[in-house]
Amino acid sequence: MIPKIKNKIFLAPMEEVNDIAFRLLCKKSGAGLTWTSLTSPLDPREQQLDDKPILQIFATSTEGIEKFMKKYDSKVSGWDFNLGCPAKTAKAQGYGAYLTDLKTVEKIVKLMRSCTHKPLSIKIRKSPLYYDFLKIAEKYCDWIAIHPRTRIQGYSGEPDLEWALKLKLESNIPVIYSGNVNEKNYTKFLDKFDYVMIGRSAIGHPEIFSSILGKKFSRNFKNYFNLAKKYKLPFRLIKFQAMQFTKGDRESRKLREKMFKIKSVEELENFI
Ligand SMILES: Cc1cc2nc3c(=O)[nH]c(=O)nc-3n(C[C@H](O)[C@H](O)[C@H](O)COP(=O)(O)O)c2cc1C
Repeated sequence: MIPKIKNKIFLAPMEEVNDIAFRLLCKKSGAGLTWTSLTSPLDPREQQLDDKPILQIFATSTEGIEKFMKKYDSKVSGWDFNLGCPAKTAKAQGYGAYLTDLKTVEKIVKLMRSCTHKPLSIKIRKSPLYYDFLKIAEKYCDWIAIHPRTRIQGYSGEPDLEWALKLKLESNIPVIYSGNVNEKNYTKFLDKFDYVMIGRSAIGHPEIFSSILGKKFSRNFKNYFNLAKKYKLPFRLIKFQAMQFTKGDRESRKLREKMFKIKSVEELENFI
């Protein structure tokens, strides 16, 4: 069952971007829900879930899923299974958009259903198997997230809105739309779909949610930095986010050039 959510605009899952500090800022800025990036249930690292996100997993078998979900179920708002990752490692290992064995997909999603009463989704791309995935989702999930690009397209080219609308018509569960949603066009998508996710437009811009919702929230890298320190995030990640936060600033190129040379958290702190 989908509980009451404060609004229909979510932070899309993004690997390397959606660390705990960034997700907390997006939540504070107003995101109705935040997604973690794809996570292996076999990853022994402790998950940082203070924003109560939807925890997205990827897998090629049911191994480790039950234990992982039991461990974290009380700390999340829901669960999602990734069937859309187009990366080379996904291809090599057969997960994400390369997991095409429907029996395996159903086995995993069925197991996920048995491990939680919280909202469960799968996130898919445009694919010849979409109808089969939709049927599996209708059997076990509360909703489905769609990104209407093929795995070959990756993140470029136009999302196929016609395909997305067709799926929406065929679906008897709510549909979360993902693909080029931003502050200018989100109403157009919310007219047609039940929820939307914002991905790239939120990178370096957690305030996108507050500007859509008319909420007060100011974008300030210092806020990210303090959270990143609190959660002991690696320097590499903090520096990446620092670069992203300069996007749209008048001096952004100069700032990035200077930041590029920074070698430690202390140096970065002095710089900001
Ligand atoms: C850097 C990056 C990392 C991503 N990582 C994930 C991921 O871990 N799991 C997932 O389901 N989708 C992932 N995506 C896809 C996004 O969630 C989203 O569906 C896609 O980018 C389209 O939305 P956008 O146009 O708003 O960015 C990623 C996208 C980007 C750009």
